[in-house]
Amino acid sequence: MTPDDDPSGRGRARSLWALLNEDFTDADGVTRWSEPEISWGLFRIPERDLRLLGDVAGLDVLEIGAGTAYVSAWLARAGARVVAVDLSHHQLATAARCQARSGPVFGLVEADGERLPVRAQTFDLVVSEYGAAPWCEPQRWLAEAARVLRPGGRLVFLTNSVLAALCVPAEGGVAGDRLLRAQRDLGDITWPGGGREHHPGHGAWIAALRGAGFVIDALHELHPSEGAGTHDYYDIVTADWARRWPAEDVWVAHLPPRPVDAP
Ligand SMILES: C[S@@+](CC[C@H](N)C(=O)[O-])C[C@H]1O[C@@H](n2cnc3c(N)ncnc32)[C@H](O)[C@@H]1O
Repeated sequence: MTPDDDPSGRGRARSLWALLNEDFTDADGVTRWSEPEISWGLFRIPERDLRLLGDVAGLDVLEIGAGTAYVSAWLARAGARVVAVDLSHHQLATAARCQARSGPVFGLVEADGERLPVRAQTFDLVVSEYGAAPWCEPQRWLAEAARVLRPGGRLVFLTNSVLAALCVPAEGGVAGDRLLRAQRDLGDITWPGGGREHHPGHGAWIAALRGAGFVIDALHELHPSEGAGTHDYYDIVTADWARRWPAEDVWVAHLPPRPVDAP
């Protein structure tokens, strides 16, 4: 399938995630469903160290691009009411199998993160770990996240850093210490043999978040701990590289609370 046959990139994304599910994410998802705590990103930094989510008990939470939904499983175990959305039937099939095997059970919805089949103002928290940000067009999915959040609702998402996207060789292999492409080309890029991705610069993320109505609370640039090694499967950066330059960014934002009525 060429970009011309599939301008939205959705066909390629579905095929890619069917393959990745067979190769890696099915087995990885099963393992990660059994872990007591979530960890973020390539280097598995524990939530206990990052404290990105806070207390989620009693919250309505939507995960976009949930994949095998191990983040959602942890959120549900922590007392949240969770719905996990993903484009890939294969990824959600792993999640459904894990639910049947061990629970917890929560909503699994096959849908595009740019067009959520969800009523407005339904959730308190929208989460995404590599799900929406690389794969969905920023203005579109952020507008959807803002639409489905209640006033005051929070958004937490992780994606590749701009530096990693600049330094990863297109033909595969790990990032080096050279910029291999123009930053302005990263907003909408189709990798050879891969999917259509979006890696805007920080200025563009700030504009997109503010344009969707969010107030930005933090940008965490993640670095692995001393003991971490290179990821077994997503080996796009080594831990040594990521200790020098951030390989992953986490954005935290919220919608303004509902305005108080004038007396
Ligand atoms: C890297 S996985 C993220 C899930 C999990 N956190 C992980 O790291 O394995 C990326 C997920 O995004 C999903 N995805 C890609 N394009 C999407 C879209 N337009 N809407 C919703 N999900 C999408 C893929 O199907 C895949 O399951």
